[in-house]
Amino acid sequence: MHDHVVDGRRPGAGAPGASGGGELFSEARSVEVVAASFAATPDARLRHVMTSLVEHLHGFVKDVRLTRAEWATAIRFLTETGHMCSDTRQEFILLSDVLGISMLVETLATPSDGVLTESTVEGPFHMVDSPGRELGACISGPADGDPCLVLGTVTDLDGRAVPGAGVDVWQADAHGYYDVQRPDVDPEDNLRGLFSTDGGGRFWFRTVVPRYYPIPSDGTVGELLRATSRHPNRPAHIHFEISAPGMRTVTTHLFVDGTPYLDSDAVFGVKESLVREFTTVDDPVRAAEVGLPNPFRTVEFAVVLDRHDPIGERAR
Ligand code: BEZ
Ligand code: FE
Repeated sequence: MHDHVVDGRRPGAGAPGASGGGELFSEARSVEVVAASFAATPDARLRHVMTSLVEHLHGFVKDVRLTRAEWATAIRFLTETGHMCSDTRQEFILLSDVLGISMLVETLATPSDGVLTESTVEGPFHMVDSPGRELGACISGPADGDPCLVLGTVTDLDGRAVPGAGVDVWQADAHGYYDVQRPDVDPEDNLRGLFSTDGGGRFWFRTVVPRYYPIPSDGTVGELLRATSRHPNRPAHIHFEISAPGMRTVTTHLFVDGTPYLDSDAVFGVKESLVREFTTVDDPVRAAEVGLPNPFRTVEFAVVLDRHDPIGERAR
C-alpha cells in the first residue's frame, strides 16, 4: 500500500459511501481534483505554478489523447535523458533548448525595450572558467580561420561608460568546434577569455570568425531531432557574459551576419538585434596596428546593461 493512502481512501476524501460528487477522479474533473490536492501549499507562488502545470499537462494529455504506450515512451525518453546527464553534460537543458523553453524563460526575464542588450541562451560550452586576459589579447592562438578584431563598449541605460565590467567570451573555432570538443587544443589557445573594460567602458580582443556547428546529438535530444526531421545546427556566433557590480548580468551572443541557419537555429537563440556584419578590413597599416594579418574582419558590439533590480525581477 502506498503511504499516502489511508484506509484505502485518499486523505481528505469524504466518508466511505459518501458520493461527494466533485472529489473523485474522472476525465472531466481531473484538473479540479488534482489541482485541489495543491490547495494547501503554503507558498503562494508554488501553489500557482503547480495548479497551472496541472491544468496545462492535463489539457495536453486530453488534447492528443495520449496512449499508455506513448506515455511509456515518454517515461523511457526522460529516464534516458537523465542518464545522459553528468558533470559535463546536461541533456535536460539541451531538451529545454530545442523545445524553445530556455529562450522563452530568457526572453521573459529580460524584456526588450529596444535599448538594453538582448539576452540569449547560455549553452553547454561555458563549462570551464575563461582565462583572464589583457585587453587586445588574441584568444584563438594558432587556430585556423579569418582573423577578427572584436571592439566593444559597455554602458548603462543613460549612456554612461561602465569601467571594470567583466566581459567573458567563448566561441567555436572556424571548424565549428569548442575547445572542450578538441582534446588536442592547448588550454591557453582555447577561444575563451575574461576581459575587464577600461576606464571608458571599452573592450577589444582578437580572435577568428567562428563557424556554425551542430549541438550535441548523440543523446535523447538528437533522437528527438531525428524523429522530427529537425537539423541540429546553430548559426555561427560568439558567446558573451557581461557583468558589473549593481548591473544585471547579460548572457548573450553576437551572430555572424550571413551565416547558415540564422533563420532556423536549433535552439531558437537568434534575435535580430544580435546579428552583426563582420566586415572585412583591407588596410595593412591598420592590420599592423591591431596585430592581425591583412586583410582581417571586424565587428563592433555596444553593450547596454540594465540596473540590477531584484524587486522588479520578483515581480516579473
Ligand atoms: C551553444 O551555443 O553553445 C549551445 C546553445 C544551446 C545548446 C547547445 C549549444
Ligand atoms: Fe555556442
